[in-house]
Amino acid sequence: MNSFNFLSPTEFVFGKEREKECGKYVRKYGGSKVLIHYGSGSVIRSGLLDRVKQSLDAEDIPFVLLGGVMPNPRDVLVYEGIALCKKEKVDFILAVGGGSVIDSAKAIAMGIPYDGDFWDFYSGKAQIRSAVSVGTVLTIAAAGSEGSGDSVITKEEGMLKRGAGSEFIRPKFSVMNPELTCTLPAYQTACGATDIMAHVFERYFTNTTEVEITDRLCEAVLITMVKETPRVIADPNNYDARANIMWAGTVAHNGIVGVGREQDWNSHGIEHELSGLYDCAHGAGLAVIMPAWMEFVMHHNPMRFAQMANRVFGVPMNFENPEETAAKGIYAFRSFLRAIGMPINFEELGAREEDIPVLVEKFGLGEDGRTGGFVKLSSADVASIYKLAVKAKL
Ligand code: NZQ
Ligand code: ZN
Repeated sequence: MNSFNFLSPTEFVFGKEREKECGKYVRKYGGSKVLIHYGSGSVIRSGLLDRVKQSLDAEDIPFVLLGGVMPNPRDVLVYEGIALCKKEKVDFILAVGGGSVIDSAKAIAMGIPYDGDFWDFYSGKAQIRSAVSVGTVLTIAAAGSEGSGDSVITKEEGMLKRGAGSEFIRPKFSVMNPELTCTLPAYQTACGATDIMAHVFERYFTNTTEVEITDRLCEAVLITMVKETPRVIADPNNYDARANIMWAGTVAHNGIVGVGREQDWNSHGIEHELSGLYDCAHGAGLAVIMPAWMEFVMHHNPMRFAQMANRVFGVPMNFENPEETAAKGIYAFRSFLRAIGMPINFEELGAREEDIPVLVEKFGLGEDGRTGGFVKLSSADVASIYKLAVKAKL
């Protein structure tokens, strides 16, 4: 196991009706003027936005509103949010929604104290040195942004999707009421489940040895997702299954299952080009990319894939031929994705084979670059993974 520091100071406020307490938590973390940031309307329809406003009113905390965050959140609204917050002297941002709303809130938070263009943090030109505090009321179990120090924003010009990360943008608190996720369409639930599993896989496939504790934590999250996702798709109001998935989503991405081990993250980078170009859901893109990546890199360490196949999907271990077990595990993962309604190839996602050169170019490795923690991929490798994803079937 590698040496590590682990700091994940978000206060999670979990359970039924806990959104009624969000005003109290804004006060606890020093907010005196709040921006309530939200998406395209689900929080209005569900009545959640009204409950959040009432909770701030009860604490006498003034607020301004900015809705309209789209999935794959855009830079344009971030600029609007920064200007609004500066004008209104906002000192706390409350994101009410999913990963897109939270990521947009984090971008605004880092942009307020910065004199330059906030995009500098996403293009790698500048490091985040401070940010206004962020809190969240989560409405979908998926991205894990409620407990992460990351934000992913799409620059509308050129549809460039890029990430930025810093401890300064990790939420101070996150309210997590699993009931709020009952209104999700089955497709969004499944996209979220896929993303949660992908966050674990990015950490699970590692070259670091002797990591039994994090291997087992990863497997626990994956097994939970395999069990609970079909339950909520069959019965959207199943509170306990929703609750297990919601906490799994946080555990998968707040860092705890990845400590002390090298991580990969190529599937995410390869996927971000798809959701950047086609504006598809991140989880749907991962359903197409992640198994293709697995097929491409499996030979690097078949035993690790065989272990996953055996422990997560119950594939009997063939010690004589671990590659066979590994391949059956990838097949089981893809079958699971299909069963929960995810696309598994380019056509089902709405992606086009002829765009592969554009996707590879945007991925940005150039001729000699290589990236990844498990297997270092070149541009040609990335193109091969997209090609495997074009043809994928069961
Ligand atoms: O905008 P509204 O009307 O709220 O609708 C949303 C949106 O259309 C809807 N929704 C959310 N909660 C709902 C609901 N509909 C009904 N009932 C509810 N309770 O769901 C749609 C998708 O929402 P979105 O926030 O986009 O989903 P998600 O949480 O999956 O976030 C995806 C974004 O997060 C990024 C992704 O790349 C993508 O841009 N990621 C962020 C990460 C991070 N910050 O740590 C890590 C991830 O790997 C990921 O890259
Ligand atoms: Zn993700």
